[in-house]
Amino acid sequence: MITRSRIIGCGACLPDRIVTNAELAARIDTTHEWIVERTGIFERHVAAEGECTSDLATRAAERALASAGIGASALDLIILATATPDHTFPATAVRVQGRLGMNRGAAFDIQAVCSGFIYALTVADQFLRTGQAQTALVIGAETFSRLLNWEDRNTCVLFGDGAGAVVLHAEPGEGNARDRGILSSHIHADGRYYDLLKTDGGPSSSRSIGLLRMVGREVFRHAVIHLADVVGEALAVHHMTLADIDWLVPHQANRRILDGTVRKLGFAPEKVVVTVDRHANTSAASVPLALAEAVADGRICPGHLVLLEAMGGGFTWGASLIRM
Ligand code: UT7
Repeated sequence: MITRSRIIGCGACLPDRIVTNAELAARIDTTHEWIVERTGIFERHVAAEGECTSDLATRAAERALASAGIGASALDLIILATATPDHTFPATAVRVQGRLGMNRGAAFDIQAVCSGFIYALTVADQFLRTGQAQTALVIGAETFSRLLNWEDRNTCVLFGDGAGAVVLHAEPGEGNARDRGILSSHIHADGRYYDLLKTDGGPSSSRSIGLLRMVGREVFRHAVIHLADVVGEALAVHHMTLADIDWLVPHQANRRILDGTVRKLGFAPEKVVVTVDRHANTSAASVPLALAEAVADGRICPGHLVLLEAMGGGFTWGASLIRM
């Protein structure tokens, strides 16, 4: 017998305000057609003035707890992945913990930008499998709109705000791929590419939080290679092929990255969960948002084998193979 971390609830939260491509085209030198053709994005949600990452995270967390049928007092761990915390410190996870009324256990943030949710899931899984926690809340939440230069057409059309959350519960498994829960996670980083996707500020390098800078074409090229590699790595560990996977839930950065990765892998496009058209790139929130959507609408069902993958600034990238 071994311990598995099973997903017992999912939740999502998107800000009310939707910004369409047409609205952006009225403000900067771009067109709806260019954005759709190059990215597949039609619209994105943007947080209201004063609406913080913790607000979106708390709402997603409450919905995940409700879908799990448990209260916050049952949690003993919160890990929140974000590159856009409410404050430099304390951790946004602790703010969410306070709002949920959970006052025991541990709460902390993880920063791996767009791969943050996969990193957070990986860490939470370790806590559960070693018996250090029984029930964990893992959140990906971002307000990337605050990091954007809204005059820069190269970047501002690409991102949106949102949050997604899952509740993990430690349960016994047999140690094979029929077990329900996280079967394995695979995370990587390569700091040689630090400067290709970053903010030009931060607490120890400047007095401002900075704005997002990206060498888009290079990020694109690396994304397709690393994502295809890490998917292959996850499958190889379990002696599986892509035919065994019921749903691929990829990071939603750009429709062309998504399609390019799926084509490189030879995966069936109809088994890919896509939200980038409506959410744009919500960084650490994108995978749990897409997962929560596909669970809520009944595409992803109990027993399905789901593969999550993401790649982001750092570079960081990773994948998790999960039996729902
Ligand atoms: O999670 C990881 C986070 N980031 C990403 O995944 C982003 C990865 N990269 C990408 O998604 C793509 O590289 C972009 C969408 C950013 C750009 O697409 P591209 O096909 O690589 O375009 P490009 O960078 O080669 O730019 C083509 C042209 C440029 O004009 P010039 O210099 O050739 O005259 C840009 O100035 O498109 C221009 N351009 C735009 N035109 C209209 C860039 N942004 C826009 C825009 N509207 N919004």
